[in-house]
Amino acid sequence: MNPVAEENNLIVDRQGRSFRNLRISLTAACNYACTYCVPDGKRLQAAAYELGAQEMIQAVRLLIATAGIDKVRITGGEPLLSPKFGELLKGIMGLGLQDVSLTTNGQLLPRHANDIIESKMKRINVSLDTLNRDAFRDIARSGDLNTVLHGIELMQAGGLKVKINMVPMRGVNDDQIIPLLEYSLERGIELRFIELMNMGHLQASPVHGQQFYSMDEILACISERYGFTRTDAPFDSTAVRYEIPGHGTFGIIANESEPFCKNCTRLRLSSNGDLYGCLSNARSQSIRELLPLSDEEAVPQLQTILLSALGDKQSDNFSGEVTVMKFIGG
Ligand code: GTP
Ligand code: 5AD
Repeated sequence: MNPVAEENNLIVDRQGRSFRNLRISLTAACNYACTYCVPDGKRLQAAAYELGAQEMIQAVRLLIATAGIDKVRITGGEPLLSPKFGELLKGIMGLGLQDVSLTTNGQLLPRHANDIIESKMKRINVSLDTLNRDAFRDIARSGDLNTVLHGIELMQAGGLKVKINMVPMRGVNDDQIIPLLEYSLERGIELRFIELMNMGHLQASPVHGQQFYSMDEILACISERYGFTRTDAPFDSTAVRYEIPGHGTFGIIANESEPFCKNCTRLRLSSNGDLYGCLSNARSQSIRELLPLSDEEAVPQLQTILLSALGDKQSDNFSGEVTVMKFIGG
C-alpha cells in the first residue's frame, strides 16, 4: 500500500467499510442488448461525454492515493468496444495495483487477446448465459456464441484465470446450469451463477419475479448431479463459493439470498466521470472537475466526496435500483 493510501484509511463508515475495489466503466455502450439489462434492444449510446483514457487513468491514480484502492476492474457497457481500451489498459497496468481485471461479454476477446495477454493481466471474467446458440441470440440479442468460446480459449492459453458469470433465468436458460457447470469444470474455470438482480427496467416489470432463480434452487439443481461443500471466499467477495471434490469450484452471487453489502468494498467510476458508492443507489458525484487539479487541491475534495459516497451504501440488503447496469458497470 502506498503511504498516502495508508494515511487515508480514515475513509471508513460506521460498519467498518472502506473502498478498496474500484470498478471503472470504460463506456456505457454495449454490443449486446441482454434482456435483463436493456428493455428495448437499444445498444449504443453516444460517447460525447466520456472521459478520455488519460483522464480515466488520472482518476484512478487519484482514487488510489485518496481511498486506498488496491483492486481495479475494467467494466462497461462492454469495455472491449471502447477505442480507449488499449491505452487505458497500459495506463492502469502501470499503476502498481495488486489486482487488475476485466469483465467482458467476450465477443471482442479474440480481437484484443494479444493486448490483454501482453499486459500481464492475470484474470478475467466473461459473461456467458448459455451454450445454446439460439438461446444465446435470444438473451444477448446479438453476438455469436463460438466467438466467445474461442475468446475464452485464447485467454486460458495465454495463462489468464477465467471466471464465467451466468444469470440463470426460469424458463429461459435454467436448462443450462449443468451444461455450463460441466463446461467450466472441465476447463478449470470458476463458474458463478448470479441471481437475477432487480435492476433497471426489471424494477417495474413482473419479469423479475417470473424469471428469478434462487440460490437454493441452483444448489438443488446441482445437487442432483454433484456433491459439494461450501468453501472459502475473500471477505468482500460477491460470490459464495463451493467445491465439488475432485472436479473444481463454482460460486453463487446471491444478491437476494445472501447479499454481501455488509462487507462491500466497491466503488464505481462511470465512463462520464461520476462516482457511485453503491450499485443499488442512483446517487453519484462527478469528479471530472478534479482531474486537472494538483494532488494537493484534488485529494481533500475527493476525500469529502468519498466519505459521502460511502454513506450511499446499503447496510444489509441489496434492494435494487432503477439504474441500468450497463451505465454503471454491472
Ligand atoms: P471477482 O473479483 O472476480 O470476484 O469479480 P466480481 O464478482 O466483483 O465482478 P464481476 O464484474 O464479475 O461481477 C459479477 C457480478 O457481481 C455482477 O453481475 C453483480 O451481480 C455482482 N456485483 C458486482 N459488483 C457489485 C456490487 O457492488 N454490489 C452488488 N450487490 N453486486 C455486485
Ligand atoms: N441481474 C444479474 N446480473 C446482471 N448483469 C447485468 N444485469 C444483470 C441483472 N439484472 C450481469 C451480467 C454480467 C455482469 C457484469 O452483470 O450478466 O455477468
